[in-house]
Amino acid sequence: MTKALIVPSNRGTLKKIGWTIMILLALLMFLLASRYLIFNSKEVYFEQQKVIYSAHMMAILTHIVGSMMATILGPFQFLPKIITNRYLNLHRWLGRTYLMGVLVGGFGGLYMAFLAYGGLVARLGFGILAIVWLLTGLMAYQKIRRKEIQIHRQWMVRNYALTFAAVTLRLWLILFQVVGVEFIDAYITVAWLSWVPNLIIAEFIINRISPNQPSYTTA
Ligand code: HEM
Repeated sequence: MTKALIVPSNRGTLKKIGWTIMILLALLMFLLASRYLIFNSKEVYFEQQKVIYSAHMMAILTHIVGSMMATILGPFQFLPKIITNRYLNLHRWLGRTYLMGVLVGGFGGLYMAFLAYGGLVARLGFGILAIVWLLTGLMAYQKIRRKEIQIHRQWMVRNYALTFAAVTLRLWLILFQVVGVEFIDAYITVAWLSWVPNLIIAEFIINRISPNQPSYTTA
């Protein structure tokens, strides 16, 4: 009895804390990326890639603008159902804009993956991330078109976990720097570490959102 009373409220508090951390980190990432748009100067570019970015300005800026849109809009799509249902039209438009961001950011990211710092292993990591990002976005879109709401939600959780790779990549890089790992080694590692664990956490979250429903049934 006590357990039944305590567990849901604890879960509610945990969700609120998780959402707050998510939006704060997303905002930070948004601001960090916006320096590319605000300051038209090579000084703010990723140090090791200044020459590449200058030569592929359109691609990197396209990637950044689309990705920024997805980063900042995503958390609002995960507000409690009572809110998203009340503002359903807004939820739909934010969702469409979010997926446009993923589409534009994803193709820009795929293009940039061929040029990424760190050589083949890093390029493969970023390239596969871009493809999985685009595919999970496509799955989320298809599911909502077919009104399979529960499964749509699950694909969106996976998709945003991948959007969040931009945040986790930078957090891992800070950690590696603190423990004294060479930047090049850290960079190659985070090309994978920034997103594979995120996907595992996404599966964990999905199982907690709908613990009684198998992941692949219709809503
Ligand atoms: C999730 C899929 C993503 C992929 C596959 C991807 C891929 C890439 C690649 C390959 C680069 C070039 C890296 C290099 O030169 O070594 C890059 C740079 C960049 N990306 Fe992404 N990215 C993704 C998500 C995001 C998101 C969500 C943001 C958020 C705004 C973002 C912001 C940036 C920024 C600002 C740069 C420039 C490098 C820097 O100054 O940190 N990316 N991205």
